[in-house]
Order: sequence, then C-alpha cells, then structure tokens
Amino acid sequence: MTQNAACFKRSLLVGLAVIGLGLIPSATAAERVEVSIDASKAGAKIDRNIFGQFAEHLGHGIDGGIWVGRDSTIPNTRGIRNDVVTALKALKVPNVRWPGGCFADEYHWRKGIGPQRAVSLNPNWGGVIEPNTLGTDEFMDFLSQIGSDAYVSVNVGSGTPQEAAEWLEYMTTAQPTTLEKERAANGHPAPYKIAFLGIGNESWDCGGNMTPDYYVSQMKIYSRFVRNFNPAQQDKDQMQKIAVGPGGGEPRWTEWTETVMKAYQQHTWSWDINGLSMHSYTVGHWPPSYASSGFGETEYSQILKFTLEMDDLINKHSAIMDKYDPQKKVALIVDEWGAWYAPLPGSNPGFLVQQNSLRDAVLAALNLNIFARHADRVRGANIAQMINVLQAMIMTDREKMVLTPTYYVFKMYTPFQDATFVPVAFNSGTYTHGDISLPRTDAIAAKGKDGKLWVAITNVDPNEAVDVELNLVDTGAKAVSGETLTAPKVDSINTFDAPNTVVPKPISAKAQGGKLTLKLEPKSVSVISIEQ
Ligand code: AHR
Repeated sequence: MTQNAACFKRSLLVGLAVIGLGLIPSATAAERVEVSIDASKAGAKIDRNIFGQFAEHLGHGIDGGIWVGRDSTIPNTRGIRNDVVTALKALKVPNVRWPGGCFADEYHWRKGIGPQRAVSLNPNWGGVIEPNTLGTDEFMDFLSQIGSDAYVSVNVGSGTPQEAAEWLEYMTTAQPTTLEKERAANGHPAPYKIAFLGIGNESWDCGGNMTPDYYVSQMKIYSRFVRNFNPAQQDKDQMQKIAVGPGGGEPRWTEWTETVMKAYQQHTWSWDINGLSMHSYTVGHWPPSYASSGFGETEYSQILKFTLEMDDLINKHSAIMDKYDPQKKVALIVDEWGAWYAPLPGSNPGFLVQQNSLRDAVLAALNLNIFARHADRVRGANIAQMINVLQAMIMTDREKMVLTPTYYVFKMYTPFQDATFVPVAFNSGTYTHGDISLPRTDAIAAKGKDGKLWVAITNVDPNEAVDVELNLVDTGAKAVSGETLTAPKVDSINTFDAPNTVVPKPISAKAQGGKLTLKLEPKSVSVISIEQ
C-alpha cells in the first residue's frame, strides 16, 4: 500500500470509527456527508503527468482529429486544427503519448519525415491507409502549439535498437550530424525535448508476444542505446524511460512486474528505467459490449463498479514494486486507461468510436482520485485516447467539434496538477442499485500551487443529492468558489447540435466557523477552491 493510500485509509478508519461512536450521522440515513480536511498533514505531490493524454494513429484520433492538412478549409496552423488546439490548451495537457499503442510497434519513423511521405498501412486499426502526413515534426509542432511534452513510444516489436537510436538522434542532437542537418532541413534546427521514452507497448501481446525474460533483454538494449542527446536534458529534465508493465491483475502480469522490477533492482551503470507502464481499461468483459449511450442505471452502476478495480490493481503492482524498489524511484505510469465500450453502430469497428456521457465524467473523476491517492508511486497516466477514440476529450466531424463530459472533468481538475495531496476523512455512505453497492461519495483534497485548498467531490448516486459539511481542521475559509458537472440523465451526452448538455456550472458553498456546507447534485462531479 502506498503512503498516501495508507494515510487515506487510516483517516477513513478514524472517520468510520467516529461514525461508530455516533458522532457523525450515517450518510445512508440522511444522504449527508461530513468531510474532514487537515491541510497540515500534506502528503506527496500529485504529479501533473497523471493528466496525460494519448494520441495513436487509430481511426480519426490523429487524421481529422488533430491533422487536417495545410490546405484544409478547416482553420489550421501548419495543418493542425485551431479549434482543437484552443480546447486542449485549456486542459494544460502535461504530455501526449504517441504514436501508439499497438501502432508504435509497427511504426517506422522515417516514413513520416521530409517532403515525400511514404504511404503505408495500419494493420492494427482497420487495415486502412496510413498517409504519414503527421510525422515527428508535425507531432512536435502540435505539442508546441498546445504547450505539452512528448512521450514517444519506440518500436521494439518490429523495429531495431538502431532505428530507435537514430530516431532519438534525429529528434534530440544539437551536434552537426547528418541527422541533425536533416531535422534542420525539415524546419527545426533546435533539438526537441523528449520527456518520456516508452520502450515498447504491450510487449506481452500486440507488441510481440514476448515472455517477460525476453522483454527484459530487449529493454536493457533499448535503455542503453536509445539516447537523448538534447543538451538541456542531460542534468535536469532528464528523459524518463518507461518499461512495458502489466495489463491486468492475473498471474501472467504479476510475473511480468516481478521480472521487470527484479531486473531493475540489479541494474548496472549501463542501463536504467524510471517508470513501469500499466494498462487497465474499464471494459467489463472482452470484447467490449457495453453501450456508450442509451443505457440506464444498471449499466451505469456496473461500469462504475468495474472502474473502481483500478485501486486494487495499483495496490497489487505497487506491492511488487515496493519489494524491489522500496524508495519508489520507479514510477508506475498508467499510460492507457479509460472506458472501452462497444463500437458505435455504423462506425468502423477498427476505429474504436464510442460516445462519451456523464457516466464517463464520473468514471474519470473516480480514477483521477485513485491516482492522486497513490501519488507517491503513480506519477503518470494517459487516458485513452485524446480525440475521437475510446474515452475522448474531444470529438470532431470534419469542421465540427464538441467537448465531451470527460473533457470538462480534466478541465475542472487542472488545479490538482502538481498540487500537494492532503488527506481527507469522510463517511462515504453507500449507493445501492440491484446487487451493486458502491461508495456514494468520493473526495480528494490538495494544496494547489496557487496556495488555495482544492477539493474534488463526486456524488456517484444518480438519484439522491448529498449534503456535504466540510470541516477544515485548524483553519478557516475566507472565500469559496467552485463548479459542478451534472446532467439530466446518466447517459446524457454533448453533441455537435447540442454541445452544452453536460457542462460545468457554478456551485455555491456557505462558509461558517471553519465549516463549509454545500449540496452535491445526484451523479455529479464538483471541484471547489477554498482560500484560507
Ligand atoms: O488504445 C487502444 C489500444 O489498446 C492500444 O493501441 C493498445 O496498446 C491497447 O491494447
């Protein structure tokens, strides 16, 4: 268990013990929650990289979603759509993982640079043509337009260490090598910053069906030879190397984590890793069959129950990591997570198109809260995927664009980026539907970089409002402001024609004698800031 999780659980137990003494009324009886926050007990930093995004060459994730081409009638800057850039800037996206996913282990970077692009295929995702028009330089241009860092996954499955090493040289050297000159000729004399390097993707499956031992041999070679030469990244801001990690909790993945972490424990001067990736989708059962819209409370409660399994999965793999890395030097990077539903009827099943509803907003908040509670080990996460694919922030259709409920949760949570975790004690209460029981409320708090105390509270219950009493231990509250996100139905969505069905609205809280009271609407996510 992580320090934060232990701390949180302890606080929760104290809270529950107090309930046992009858001092706090049960949330179940009165739909009332007491939340106690002691800002003097600050914990780990909530790494801004847990709000990372993922853009794969898959369906319209990139083509049409980011890239429309310089000659498009859709307003763009050097081929990158302006409306999407404006929307993403508001999220303060810390990093974008690219070019995949499964696509990364078939990507050959030279096809995507220079004036003449190779036209290739995308066998993983619909077998469609890959025009390679958005390649390395365009991706980096996109990042500079939205103000984000690069998380580049190199091809371990079908590429070579030499190919990956040359790609990194192309991107990062400041010396006048042939590759540096090629980059300059392609319009970028200055070296690029590569914040994260993914050493393969799901190498236990689409990345080459490797055994853990075979992967570890490959990982060492890539870690050694795929160097970052950017002078600005030699001492500070060093590139973080992320090894492939588990894709679930089954024995084959505990063995995988064991093998990689055991190797790490014995690593020598010649290789290193800084992170272990973990992938976990909220899917229910494979193949994905839950509808992404037009569902009711049963599917709402089932999916949210599945999503809460993220906490157990992190606990499981963190415990293995703790054995080999008690100082928590290696971060757990949940670089693929989110809801994965049945493809929208009529869409290309290889394009992973789904709707995004209020349920996804609640799901996103619950997962971000889990990551924050594990802030000492989980120092990165990338929701899958940014645009038009799976649990997207943004959907586009030619010139049209709409922001999803998940987008608004990420926007509301921006103050938690690099904020300091503050433990919260509360009696969550229970929401029950049929044979599913879930904690009714969930909450996190953090001290923001702006000096304010930030609290995110989710009311999972789709039927009952919750009265919250926030008790700020030893401090008062001078001013409070906040926003809440809810909608008429659990499956409410934003569409191109009705984009404002699920958008945040102001929420008011009353401050009195160190306590705040506020009402949470059913099925809502709220974020408030408190000036102390
Ligand atoms: O996000 C879609 C796919 O899911 C990714 O390409 C792969 O890594 C995972 O299986």
